[in-house]
Amino acid sequence: MYKKKKRKKLLFKNNIVIYDTKNLNKNGIDFVNKIICGDSLKLIKELPDNFVNLIITSPPYFGCRIYGNETLGREEHPLEYVTNLLKYSNELKRVLNKEGSFYLNIGDVYFGTKGFVRNKGKYARKTDKHYKEHKIAKPNGKYLQYKQLLMLPERVAMGMQEQGWILRNKIIWEKPNPVPSYSPDRRYPVYEHIFHFVKSRKYYFDLNMAKQLNYHRDIIRCGIEPFGEHQASYPESLIKPLVLTTSKENDIVLDPFMGSGTTAIASIVSNRNYIGFEINEKFCNLAEERILNSKKTIENQLPLKETYQSDIHFITTR
Ligand SMILES: C[S@@+](CC[C@H](N)C(=O)[O-])C[C@H]1O[C@@H](n2cnc3c(N)ncnc32)[C@H](O)[C@@H]1O
Repeated sequence: MYKKKKRKKLLFKNNIVIYDTKNLNKNGIDFVNKIICGDSLKLIKELPDNFVNLIITSPPYFGCRIYGNETLGREEHPLEYVTNLLKYSNELKRVLNKEGSFYLNIGDVYFGTKGFVRNKGKYARKTDKHYKEHKIAKPNGKYLQYKQLLMLPERVAMGMQEQGWILRNKIIWEKPNPVPSYSPDRRYPVYEHIFHFVKSRKYYFDLNMAKQLNYHRDIIRCGIEPFGEHQASYPESLIKPLVLTTSKENDIVLDPFMGSGTTAIASIVSNRNYIGFEINEKFCNLAEERILNSKKTIENQLPLKETYQSDIHFITTR
């Protein structure tokens, strides 16, 4: 997964994107306000216990997209995907502060139908050779049947409950403009899950803020907004209220599947710090550019007490 040659060459570009963690201080502070390029399962392990205040993320969904060199989401069997994703959530539990929250945005998929990228086009022939060559589990007449909605978000959430996470909300993100997924014999899918998990019964939550932002109900209606080349980014307007209601100023917000950097942007504009992990270099660069532009926008628009002196300083508005 790691490409050693590239990591060396690209080290410390602009001091935001980092490709090699070997010179970073292991007390975690060097990770703050950086995007680290690499497999987040390895990178999370480099963070200290109880280090971050909030985690918001959207991992690759099973069998839907190919972003680049990642392996998560491309498993042979959907339940392997659940097992793999649970390895990440287990490690995330260690690095989340006791008062912290973890928002997991995750979508579902129908087995062997649209959205199941490896069954499309020239790969659509359903022969034994086809399943073997493309490493796809064959339908088995039970759970794995064509047209089956796989219930992967629920399976992951239940696995997380077994890991000791407490599920506080199953938020339905309703999209007025979903990616079309037409089928003549079922209703159109127009929502995704955002699970709100916590580590302990006493955690930080600002209900008044949630009410002010009209974010106190468990259904949120918000349009999708792909960013640049990243077709699976979630909208900043969906994420920012989560940051504001479940973290305090100057807190650290981690996104282990950073993509185009939406979580970082929502954190920066809310005066929070971010840490972003992303395995694909092109998205690290996209996120870096977006963050640099956003910092410029903030500096131009808001009166500042303190601007970014270095990447571990905070922007504080008056
Ligand atoms: C659904 S997208 C996240 C989009 C992001 N929320 C945004 O708003 O742009 C998932 C991202 O996870 C990245 N990814 C996949 N496997 C990864 C891994 N093991 N470690 C780090 N990033 C990974 C993919 O390259 C992709 O950009």
